[in-house]
Amino acid sequence: MKTITLLLTVILQTQGFTMSDLSEEIKQSRESTYTVNPLILSRWSPRSMSGETMTDGELLPLFEAARWAPSSYNSQPWKILYAKKGTPEWDLFYSLLVEFNQQWCKNASALVLIVSRDTFEHNNKPAPTHSYDTGAAWMALALEGNSRGYVVHGMSGFDYDRARQTLEIPDGYTIEAMAAIGKRAPKEKLPKEMQESETPSSRKPLSEIAVPGKFK
Ligand SMILES: Cc1cc2nc3c(=O)[nH]c(=O)nc-3n(C[C@H](O)[C@H](O)[C@H](O)COP(=O)(O)O)c2cc1C
Repeated sequence: MKTITLLLTVILQTQGFTMSDLSEEIKQSRESTYTVNPLILSRWSPRSMSGETMTDGELLPLFEAARWAPSSYNSQPWKILYAKKGTPEWDLFYSLLVEFNQQWCKNASALVLIVSRDTFEHNNKPAPTHSYDTGAAWMALALEGNSRGYVVHGMSGFDYDRARQTLEIPDGYTIEAMAAIGKRAPKEKLPKEMQESETPSSRKPLSEIAVPGKFK
C-alpha cells in the first residue's frame, strides 16, 4: 500500500500541469509557450458581473491573500480601502470611476482602491519598491479571486485627485489603482459594445519580455 501511494505521488509530481487543467474558454484564447500553473493562465479580467452582493466571508479571503504577498523588508506597504455594494461607502467609490468603468461596474459587488506607503515605517526613508510590492499584493488578490470564481478587474480609469481628497488619503501614500470584484455573469449582461472584448487576451512573445544579459 505504501509503495502504491509513493508511486502515485511520484507520478503526480512528474506529470506537472497539462492543458486539460484549463477551461475551454482559456484554451481557445491563450497559448502559452511553456506549461505553467493553470492559476496563471486562468486569471483574466472579465467585465460582466451579476450585481449580487458579497458577504464578508466571501470578500475578505481575497484581501487575506493580498496580506501574504512578499515585500522589501516585509514592510507590507499596501492598504486596501473598499466599499461593498449596498453600504454607505459604495456611492463614493463608484462616483470616482470614469464613465466607461461606471457602465460595467454598476454590477460589481465591491470596489477597492489600493494605496501604498512611500516610505518604510521603521525609518521613514524612501521605500524604492513600495509600488512593486503592492503590485504583488494586488496579483495575489486577483489570483485568489479568480480561483474562487470571482471577477477581479483592475482599473486606473478613475479620478485620482478626488480619491485622495474624498477618501482622506494622506501625503506619503501613493494611490496605485482601483479594482472591481464580483460574481461573473454572461457577457450579454454588458452593453453591446463591450461584449466583443469580453474574452481572455494574449501577451507579447516571451522572447520580448525576458532577455539574457543587457537590455535589448
Ligand atoms: C492597473 C490596471 C489598470 C487597469 N485599468 C482598467 C480600466 O480602467 N478599465 C478597464 O476596463 N480595464 C482596466 N484594466 C484591465 C486591463 O486592460 C487588463 O488587465 C489587460 O488588458 C490584460 O487582460 P487580462 O487582465 O484579462 O489578462 C486595468 C488593469 C490593471 C492591472
